[in-house]
Amino acid sequence: MAFVVRKNIHGNNYYYLNENKRIDGKVKTKTLAYLGKTRKEAERKAREIIKSLKKDKKSMDEKIEEKEILKEKNKETIKEYTDISIEEMAIFCKRKGFVYNSGEIYGGMAGFWDFGHLGVELSNNIKKEWWKSHVHSREDMVGIDGSIITNPKVWEASGHVFSFVDVAVVCKKCGNKTKVDKFEAGRIEKVKCEKCGGEFETKGEFNPMFTTQVGPIKEDSIKAYLRPETAQLIFTNFRYVYDNARLKLPCGIAQIGKAFRNEIAPRDFLFRAREFEQMEIEYFIKPEQKCPYGIGNTEILVYSAEMQEAGKKAAKMKFSDAYGKGIIKTDWHAYWLEQEFLWFIGLGANPEKFRIRQHIKDEKSHYALDTWDLEYRFPFGWKELEGIANRTDFDLKQHEKFSGKDLKIFDEDTKEKFLPHVVCEPSLGIGRAFLVFMFDSYFYDKKRENVVLKIHPKLSPIKVAILPIVKKKEFKKIAKEILNELKNEFNVIYDESGSIGRRYSRQDEAGTPYCITIDADSLKKKDITIRDRDTSEQFRIKIKNIKETVRKIIEGGNLSNLGKRINTRKKIS
Ligand code: GAP
Repeated sequence: MAFVVRKNIHGNNYYYLNENKRIDGKVKTKTLAYLGKTRKEAERKAREIIKSLKKDKKSMDEKIEEKEILKEKNKETIKEYTDISIEEMAIFCKRKGFVYNSGEIYGGMAGFWDFGHLGVELSNNIKKEWWKSHVHSREDMVGIDGSIITNPKVWEASGHVFSFVDVAVVCKKCGNKTKVDKFEAGRIEKVKCEKCGGEFETKGEFNPMFTTQVGPIKEDSIKAYLRPETAQLIFTNFRYVYDNARLKLPCGIAQIGKAFRNEIAPRDFLFRAREFEQMEIEYFIKPEQKCPYGIGNTEILVYSAEMQEAGKKAAKMKFSDAYGKGIIKTDWHAYWLEQEFLWFIGLGANPEKFRIRQHIKDEKSHYALDTWDLEYRFPFGWKELEGIANRTDFDLKQHEKFSGKDLKIFDEDTKEKFLPHVVCEPSLGIGRAFLVFMFDSYFYDKKRENVVLKIHPKLSPIKVAILPIVKKKEFKKIAKEILNELKNEFNVIYDESGSIGRRYSRQDEAGTPYCITIDADSLKKKDITIRDRDTSEQFRIKIKNIKETVRKIIEGGNLSNLGKRINTRKKIS
């Protein structure tokens, strides 16, 4: 039964239409409508509302009940590992300060993204971990950092000016604009729109390289390109690096840097951008040189060109078997595919969401003899995460031809000069790796009622948050001393605002693996509480041992071996 109530707020009267309802045995009052400031007006409006409610097919009771049922249902459907869409991930990344649309205050720009205070840390940590495992921990690898704009002849030699061509297409049914490669364009009637299944109409070829003018005076300037891949700078510098770093084959040269492609349809957040970063290796061998490193027994879904052409499904197998059975043709390809997969898994990615897929005959780039992609099951399907191509001596040969310079090296055994072959080029976009780590660590915790980003501590943007339990001087003093001790080695933050629960959930969502709290005991016993993000377990650690402990737990050490577990669920009688 609905009734009118008057509320006096700061001396003014306000009238509302309320209703009492029994929910779960308890009587709850709900406000149905605001009715105005005078009784007369309120009674008139109330009569009208009640009349219209009666007319309504469903009673108010039914509607409220429906809402309650829906609420319960929604609670049930929140899964442990929340499968969120790419759009939801973009919203989360913006809300927490990972990624913003570039120039957002002006409406943004498709395909360009800015990394926020958490995003830049995650992206830097991905690069740091990659460099550590691919360059510093290997004796056969060195790195370089080439420039973004270089002599445009580089791109003529590499084939990018003439062969790096996509075909723009538009869906006849829904108007979806996208690109297909030249091979797909040749059989366009077979290619269907991924959005609506409609047929495509071709709109002509385009070269995705961005051009620019070098030189301020127009008549004297030359046309140049923003590099579409970092790789070419490795080839053009190959002889210098090989000699100066005193490399011996087999060996690799690595590089991390920006690349630019004027994509016709940038989409899926960081997945297909116009400006992005790549981590690339050109791995050189003497032709026919065998791989001296073992191929392991790690299992993965394998999808060869033959399987795809025969309409078969991908099959799970060991890398060693895929090579042994001749599915992966070279030991080098099997070795590098496994290494790249293991790098992701070692940093906490979900192995079940990976597969390797070989490019079919006409899909390969103009330079590639054989290409396998490490693919990941994104919310929008299986997609290329990292390409690993066998580029042979294509690039060095082209640069010899176009520059007229001798890029061969001397073989001590045969006393002859030869061009090394790039047997594998692992090439990974940081934006795509960023997405993998975000998707695989995004977890909605029903109990805590917040997202917990269970990202590997090595990748976590912030390693430790330091939280004095109250804002008292003596608590803050200890907190600041800990901050000063840790900040030279780790990215740590200090936060004293809000309830402790609110501060924990803020850090859960930022992926901070450890929170340190300073409480009354800390003053007496010179120790602190350290909370584990994933389990919310808490341990007491002596202040003098904090730095060493943080070092150990980030490297994978177990808090239960390093501190004293405490019971945080004390009953208050
Ligand atoms: N040097 C070889 C090369 O660039 P690619 O397959 O064109 O090969 C390698 O690109 C990797 O670079 C891809 O696997 C992907 O991770 C990343 N990548 C390519 N285009 C991208 C784009 N438009 N946006 C984000 N990442 C991209």
